[in-house]
Amino acid sequence: MIGIICAMKIEADAIRASLIDAETQTVSGVEFVRGKLHGKDVVLAVCGIGKVFAAICTEAMILTYAPSLIINSGVAGTLSEELTIGDIAVSSALVQHDMDTSPIGDPRGLISGINKIFFEADPSAANGIERAAATVGAHCVRGVIASGDQFMSDAAKKAWIAKEFGAIACEMEGAAVAHVAFVNSTPFVVLRAISDSATGDAQMEYPKFVAMAAARSHAILDKFIESV
Ligand code: ADE
Repeated sequence: MIGIICAMKIEADAIRASLIDAETQTVSGVEFVRGKLHGKDVVLAVCGIGKVFAAICTEAMILTYAPSLIINSGVAGTLSEELTIGDIAVSSALVQHDMDTSPIGDPRGLISGINKIFFEADPSAANGIERAAATVGAHCVRGVIASGDQFMSDAAKKAWIAKEFGAIACEMEGAAVAHVAFVNSTPFVVLRAISDSATGDAQMEYPKFVAMAAARSHAILDKFIESV
């Protein structure tokens, strides 16, 4: 079973439409749709925006469906000159850029208790996403993806996250999926298509490009599922 988590309906609709023998079940307020995609068992959920919704969804998915891999797919702002609108970011690792206990001596991003800043994504899944991106001719960069409960639209903050964590893209759910997957020993990967520059222009860019970016992310996800 492969789990697919999207934050928003626009990121999930095309996947939902191609599921064969779809059956739905609601757990913890999240609707899960189970079915076949390219003959493989998948379960899809729209978790909602932000890290807490993503965490609820990931935990419920793992406990209910025991997926062997979770893919978080959708859109992101770019933090890298190598990624422009429509390009693809695939995770090497995830970080929560808004986790900050530095006033009591910790490095920024540290998750106390498990003592981690970065959650490593499954490398073979990331390789597969890169291959899938190549088959559709998409420019794909692998690197750290940073998540936080903020829509990034500030050049200075963007530069800080990129420098502090070496991150290439920002979004609002991936690191929560990663955190929950990690504590449950479940492999995960994050696939995001760039919808905006994460600067002051993002407010204009995002509504213009979100549908195109969601479609690109879906196209690569579909190729990846076909290939596994
Ligand atoms: N998802 C897409 N663009 C984003 C941005 N600029 N900040 C946070 N999440 C995003």
